[in-house]
Formats: sequence, C-alpha cells, structure tokens
Amino acid sequence: MKKILIIGSGGREHVLASSLAASEKVETVFCAPGNGGTALEGKCVNIPFDSLEGMADFAARNHIDLTIPGAEVYLCDGVVDLFRSRGLKIFGPHKAAAMLEGSKALAKDFMKKHAVKTAAYERFDKAADALAYLKGTDSPLVVKADGLAAGKGVIICRTREEAERAVNQIMVEEAFGSAGSEVVIEEFLEGKEASILALYDGKTIIPFVSAKDHKKIGEGETGLNTGGMGVIAPNPLVSEEVMAQFVRDIMEPTVAGLKRENMDFAGIIFFGLMINDGGVYLLEYNMRFGDPEAQTVLPLFEGDWYDFLSLSLEGRAGDYPVKWKKAHSCCVVMASGGYPESYGKGYEITGYAGLESKVFIAGAELKENRLLTSGGRVLNVVAQGKTLEEARKKAYGDLKKIHFDRAAFRKDIGL
Ligand code: AMP
Ligand code: GLY
Repeated sequence: MKKILIIGSGGREHVLASSLAASEKVETVFCAPGNGGTALEGKCVNIPFDSLEGMADFAARNHIDLTIPGAEVYLCDGVVDLFRSRGLKIFGPHKAAAMLEGSKALAKDFMKKHAVKTAAYERFDKAADALAYLKGTDSPLVVKADGLAAGKGVIICRTREEAERAVNQIMVEEAFGSAGSEVVIEEFLEGKEASILALYDGKTIIPFVSAKDHKKIGEGETGLNTGGMGVIAPNPLVSEEVMAQFVRDIMEPTVAGLKRENMDFAGIIFFGLMINDGGVYLLEYNMRFGDPEAQTVLPLFEGDWYDFLSLSLEGRAGDYPVKWKKAHSCCVVMASGGYPESYGKGYEITGYAGLESKVFIAGAELKENRLLTSGGRVLNVVAQGKTLEEARKKAYGDLKKIHFDRAAFRKDIGL
C-alpha cells in the first residue's frame, strides 16, 4: 500500500489529498500542513510543515511513495531538485522549469525562442530604460513585475501615464519587493480568457478538460483581483477549433522547447490563455495545479490519480487510459467578507457535511471538532451535472446550506 505526501494547505491541496486517497492502492495521505478539510478526510493525516529539508527527511524516514507540492514557491525554491537528489519520488517541475512561472521575463523569452504564440513584449532591469521605452509606445499596455507576486504583479495600463506609474510602483517603490527588480512590458490583448491544465512527463503532454476562472471579487468581473472566486469546466469558449489552435500554436511548441532545453520532469503545466479573433495567445505558464481550477477539474477525471501520476514519473503517462466524465463541473468559492482586503477569522462553519456537492476546504482549521475559518478564501463548493446549469444549481443549492458569519461569494459563477 502506498503512502503519499502533499505539501501545502489550500483547497487545491484538499482536492489532491482526496483524489489520491480515493485510490485503492493508497493507504495514507500525509498533508503538510494540510487544513481542516484534510483533517476530516478519510486516509488523510495532517503533519506539521517545517522546511523543505524537513519534508525530505520525513519522506525518506516514512518511505513515502509519491510527494506532490501544491504551490509555486516550493517549486521555485527547488523542492523537486532536493527530493530528486535524495532519490525521493516527487511530482512537479525542477527549479529551472518552475522558473517558467517564477520569472515572467524568462517565460516570455522561452515563448519567443520556441515560437509559442504570445503578446509582443520587452523586458527591462532599469526603471530609466523602461520609462524611456514607454515614450515611443501606444496604450494600452500591460506592465508586469518579473517575479512571483501572489498574482498581484500584473498592472493593466490604459494610458502612458498609468504605465509610467506602474513602472515606478514596481521598480522604484518596490511595491512587490525583489519580484520587481525587472519588468516585462507587453502588448495588451483584448479577448476572453481560458485555462488549460496539462500533464507533462518529459515525453508526452496530456491536456485536461478546459476551465474558466473568475478572478475578480465582484459580480460581472468587477472590483479587485483575487486568487479566484470560482471556476467552471469545461470552458464554453474552448471549442474544438480553439483547442486545435491551442495545441498547434502553444502546446506543441512548448513541448518542443522543453525538450530542446532538456527540461525533463513530470508535472503540471497550466496554460493561461487569451482567445480573440487573432487566435489563441499564451499569457502565462503556471507550473502547478491551479487553485481553484484543480478543485473543479480533478473530479471530472475517470480513473486512479495515483496510477496516472506514478506512471508519469516513469515517463509513461501516455500508457494511462485517460478518460473524462462527459459532465460539467462548477466550483463556487465562499470567502470571508472583506477578502481580498482585510477580513475576520475564527468564524465557525456549519452545514458542510452530507451535501451532494463536495466541499473542499481552503482556509479553515479543525479545533475541538469545530471547523473555524482561518483564511480569506474559506471553502469551495464543487458540483457536477449533465449541463452547466445543473452543476451550477447543485453547487448554489448546497452553498445555501453552509453557514459562517460574514460569508461572501459571487452569485454569477458560470453565468
Ligand atoms: P498573468 O499573471 O500574466 O496571467 O496576468 C494576470 C492577468 O492579467 C491575466 O489573467 C489577464 O487577465 C491579465 N493579462 C495579463 N497579460 C495580459 C495581456 N497581454 N493582455 C491583456 N490582459 C493581460
Ligand atoms: N487560479 C489561478 C491560479 O491558481 O493561479
């Protein structure tokens, strides 16, 4: 029987834990540190997270068969390199590949070099050069801090003055710390967004069902950016034609580039796409499962996640008979009122058990058998249906039965 280690504490880590625990071959899923949801999940055991070295020690001592890190920071810090150097099995990109997410400048250079369709761009490591460049440009533009900035380092600029302000904010005032020591300035693309997660094993890439994120806090995509307030899958915009363009213009050139650069790993590549009359463009790579994309898409998989992921570590993902349910999935995030700015914590959650939807916990802990909120995005209500409408109805119907003080959610996910 197999033992799994999942590193992280969000809703993505809860769905990973529950998906791995569903395999008959899996005995225990250790979650470091996990959350109140993984604490309540069968076969799952929360353990403290100390450091990546500490996690490698734990994996070695306990004969862990497969480790999955959730978040990009661990990957960019080299968790995969560390585990591999100790002969431990881990699913995810090594540091050099993780930097395709960790550095937007590096990612854009990779896209250009390998002819992956993307917006035109320039990169600058001096504010004066960036400001001089802006004098000869037309708006709108997008100014991006190079490094990881928890999804906040991208500024859409309608005018040149806004772009100058963005450069100053990122490079001079260091609003995102060292993430802003370099900027990418790129062409603004009008269009509609889609996310496609795919599994890469060094040889083969297998795209998953497409997804549509809802990034803003307010209904109708208004207000501040968040980590994501809901997702539907499949994304109605990803027609067969769009998919074919994605494969031809983005996915295949990416794989060719990874091979040319000898980036050999088994992990997830999450393609953030913009679709318009000109075709499909790649906005960014994320080198890990999305949150809450994973909570929405993983339940549509018909198969054994342990088998699939462990085959991929042998470069044999192509041998797995991947099948997806012919269903629609809808995930609605319940947040703590005030998020993504300041919000309260410690509110008791009730009514989450015995629902038809699956509830993945993102920011709540179990204390004396009570689930108490501990984060901004508190939980995800995820339901499937034959149609999107059916999935939405189920998710929202169940959401009404869940209660905590100052709960907030968008009513228009999937509309
Ligand atoms: P990124 O982290 O690069 O995906 O950027 C975050 C968000 O900013 C994207 O999901 C888009 O909504 C927006 N964005 C990024 N790049 C562009 C672009 N070139 N044109 C228009 N919107 C963009
Ligand atoms: N939901 C977007 C992300 O995981 O980055």
